[in-house]
Amino acid sequence: MSRFAFTSAAILALALPACAETAPTPDKAKAAELVQAYAGKLKAALGSALETGGAEGALEVCAKQAPVIAAELSQSSGWTVARTSLKPRNAASAPDDYERKAMEAFNVRIAKGEKAADLVSAEVVEQNGKKAFRFIKAIPTAQLCLTCHGENVAPELKRKIVALYPEDQATGFKEGDMRGVFTLTKPLP
Ligand code: HEC
Repeated sequence: MSRFAFTSAAILALALPACAETAPTPDKAKAAELVQAYAGKLKAALGSALETGGAEGALEVCAKQAPVIAAELSQSSGWTVARTSLKPRNAASAPDDYERKAMEAFNVRIAKGEKAADLVSAEVVEQNGKKAFRFIKAIPTAQLCLTCHGENVAPELKRKIVALYPEDQATGFKEGDMRGVFTLTKPLP
């Protein structure tokens, strides 16, 4: 019995580092690149929409374009590329448990003085018996975002937001708050 216990402990000790070494390398650089592409496309769509249609026009462009941009990037990359938030505007963007915990942990770090712009988490996790690489990057609230996500959204704009998103929770943010996160998942073999 004691010999068996010793043997299995020894096997475990040998097996653990070996597993870690042979695990597929998480592609952090690729994730960062995808986030940059995603953020760039969103910013460009928002910027040109604000220029031509003001906040109300931009709202409609955002509502239509944001999901399309995420879907296109997901399809071309083979990753799942999305945004989520503890206070989502689009109910379809509500977080899963993993994302919720990551965002709560980010908020604790922000409360202790870290900047939302610096917060990233990257790990290999097992979900439903399958391995996946999950990459989460905080999105800070900038001045520009307050028009549609701030504490004083103009009443007419607010009416349009609620008409499009009856369950909207994404107002009341202040500059520097974490508005949400980019969330990327890559299934691993
Ligand atoms: C013109 C209004 C408008 C502005 C300005 C705006 N947003 Fe949004 N935001 C929206 C709309 C509409 C959605 C929902 C899009 C969708 O259906 O996926 C949204 C969704 C989001 C989401 C996805 C999660 C969720 O709540 O559904 C994040 C994150 C986000 N916005 C961050 C920002 C940031 C950061 C800025 C500033 C750089 C910003 N937004 C500026 C209108 C706006």
